[in-house]
Amino acid sequence: MAYNLLKGKRGIITGALDANSIAWKVAEKAHEEGATFVLTNAPIAMRMGEINTLAEKTNSQIIPADATNVEDLTKLFTEAQEVLGGKIDFVLHSIGMSVNIRKKIPYTESNYDYFAKGIDVSAMSLHKMLAVAKKLDAINEGGSVVALTYMAAQRTYPFYTDMADIKAMLESIARSFGYHYGVDKKVRINTVSQSPTRTTAGSGIKGFDNFYDFADKISPLGNADAASCADYCITLFSDLTRMVTMQNLFHDGGYSSTGVSMDVMDKIGGGE
Ligand code: NAI
Repeated sequence: MAYNLLKGKRGIITGALDANSIAWKVAEKAHEEGATFVLTNAPIAMRMGEINTLAEKTNSQIIPADATNVEDLTKLFTEAQEVLGGKIDFVLHSIGMSVNIRKKIPYTESNYDYFAKGIDVSAMSLHKMLAVAKKLDAINEGGSVVALTYMAAQRTYPFYTDMADIKAMLESIARSFGYHYGVDKKVRINTVSQSPTRTTAGSGIKGFDNFYDFADKISPLGNADAASCADYCITLFSDLTRMVTMQNLFHDGGYSSTGVSMDVMDKIGGGE
């Protein structure tokens, strides 16, 4: 059911790789809620071409941009305003990649070139996007930026390796930039800390399936799926959350507040 929450709003949505991507669901919901937006992804990710299906379905244009490249981002924010006919109201940062994870390198043996690449792609890209947008004055007052993160930024999940540190940096950038952009232009910046979700980035993590089941059994509501994450992002893009900024918001079915569940106790033989 649609509520017209984003009627008349213009956005930029990063990170839709395929139909499993969280960003894909956000784009579908934003379209249902009356927004117009451009889609963007790294030029290399577009070779698979699946994003064209989403663009057709949501009447959107695609503007390729490597999120680590300030020139690409400048072109993205400039062209997005031309295509959409005005300043931007919402931005989704849905970008994550760790070469150390991809290559299954243990955390204590992290390769530092890969570590630096992960920081650039997955955390500093948010800073670069915001800096470009601010310089161009491309985001409307009251505009909303959401970046996706994971709870390993607060608590240790050994398999998440360097991405844990990178997500901590991403969340910190949201707070730090949120202050400055808030004071100057009332632009809001938040991170949404999402349950494990079956996507290309998620499934690339060692032991993901076992952990997915564990998290599902801990969370009173079960794991939050990509579609419900998209719903939550839509509320954050809408005017209904206009005083929410600089927050890390858990969207995880109650996982982050649960110590242990009876379900898990039973599984290890300790339950009544
Ligand atoms: P995904 O693999 O569908 O999306 C990741 C996206 O990042 C891809 O579209 C990829 O092309 C893009 N990307 C990588 N390098 C880029 C670059 N240099 N420039 C521009 N785009 C680039 O996976 P998913 O799960 O939808 O990931 C989206 C976000 O959600 C990520 O930040 C991820 O860390 C976060 N997240 C995912 C969870 C999961 O379990 N899947 C849980 C919590 C957060």
